Amino acid sequence: MSHAASRRIGLLAGSIRGFLDFATLPHMQRRPDPGVCDFVFGNPHEPPMPEYVSALQRALVPRDKDWFAYKLNEPEATTVVSRSLSEQRGRQFSPEHIVMTNGTFAGLSIVLTAFVDPGDEVIYVSPPWFFYEVLILSAGAAPVRVDADRTTFDLDLDAIKAAITERTRAIIVNSPNNPTGVIYPPDTLGRLGDLLQAASQRNGRPVYLFSDEAYNRIVFDGRAYPSPTDYYDHSLLLYTYGKTLLTPGERLGYIAVSPAMPDPGRVLEALFVSQALTGWAFPVASLQHALADIEGLSIDVGHLQDKRDRMAQGLSRAGYEVNHPEGTFYLMVRSPWRDDMAFCMALVEKGVFVLPGATFEMPGWFRISLTANEEMIARSLPVFESMAGTSRR
Ligand SMILES: Cc1ncc(COP(=O)(O)O)c(C=O)c1O
Repeated sequence: MSHAASRRIGLLAGSIRGFLDFATLPHMQRRPDPGVCDFVFGNPHEPPMPEYVSALQRALVPRDKDWFAYKLNEPEATTVVSRSLSEQRGRQFSPEHIVMTNGTFAGLSIVLTAFVDPGDEVIYVSPPWFFYEVLILSAGAAPVRVDADRTTFDLDLDAIKAAITERTRAIIVNSPNNPTGVIYPPDTLGRLGDLLQAASQRNGRPVYLFSDEAYNRIVFDGRAYPSPTDYYDHSLLLYTYGKTLLTPGERLGYIAVSPAMPDPGRVLEALFVSQALTGWAFPVASLQHALADIEGLSIDVGHLQDKRDRMAQGLSRAGYEVNHPEGTFYLMVRSPWRDDMAFCMALVEKGVFVLPGATFEMPGWFRISLTANEEMIARSLPVFESMAGTSRR
């Protein structure tokens, strides 16, 4: 490998060091073992929805010679998406404004490559989903971390305003938020839109809003979901089916260009070129064929909410400080030990796997994925209780 390439890889790896260190620990290989309570990632621990499986089976039977040809945006798929979005949002999305992707990993890579020049700055909010920084870096841009309000985990608009410079090209906003579970309220989003509008005018070019809405249908307590894209015209909505269907290995998602986007033709052209460059971002043919049947399916969000309540009550009773999520798969909990990694390793010894805060810029905390099954929750609570009173500060 050339010197420059190895420096670049070193820089990228450095930005996900905490994650890599934890994910590659030899202990992690024990996660699938029977008896282990695995709360690390948003992976399924129960069988998939039978309707999902049969939709995929039907979609695998070819109906013409092009069934498995190279696919960009299948008209049937973009029509399904635009209809669904128009219904959910109460504004008209046209199929031409939808770009099918193979998930939000790809979606983010596409929008970053399409709109961000080397040397531009891209703001992301901390604590973040652990791959934002590396994706921004790999697009040649400079990541700018802005902390969320550390009490409410709402966006800190003053801090965002202070972080914007003439080089700012985009901001990534994730609501409902992984890992905090916060849904940003309309008032915050309205003020964010005003702030970005003013910054775009000052800079003489738009600051794009990339709205990562991976969990926009995983919302608890009957809450409404306000989309950041409804409050700012230069917005791109990124969605992945992997969360709502709990099938993260079956890669399908989309980018929706805001119906209010100025000059959408140029934006769509940039997305097309960027998608072609990142060849691996082409959406899978069979999943697009199945989309009409799977778009309306969802895991049981009520069941997920019950698991949130059971876990949160059990942990609170044991003395843990638990953050209350309004959506997503995740529960953030304060580690009784200052060193969250050491605490997580002590839990591993007892067969309970959680994600240390060091991996998502929240040292002193850990994250539990509520996609674990009931049995894992039941088995883990006595372990958490036994560890609650221990201290290693
Ligand atoms: C906030 C957020 N964005 C994007 C992704 C990536 O989603 P996918 O793997 O479906 O592309 C995830 C996955 O965990 C996520 O939590």
